[in-house]
Amino acid sequence: MYVCLCNGYRCHEIREVAREGASSAEDAYLMLGEAACCRRCLPTAQALIDEERSDAHREGVGKDVAEPLGLQFALGSAT
Ligand code: FES
Repeated sequence: MYVCLCNGYRCHEIREVAREGASSAEDAYLMLGEAACCRRCLPTAQALIDEERSDAHREGVGKDVAEPLGLQFALGSAT
């Protein structure tokens, strides 16, 4: 789905640059090559970035905590 009609940026492109470090829509657009024009899409792009960064954070939190402690989790194997 297109997020930015002025530049032709799609959801997956916005999510990809968010995973690569873009924390704002403006940063994402610059990483993709063109700055925002009319700016109507910025709230939607920012919501995608926030969601992507939140998902990445959630995935990383458990890993950061468990791995250094050598913890292993096995659900349903309490025998
Ligand atoms: S729709 Fe994205 S800058 Fe216009």
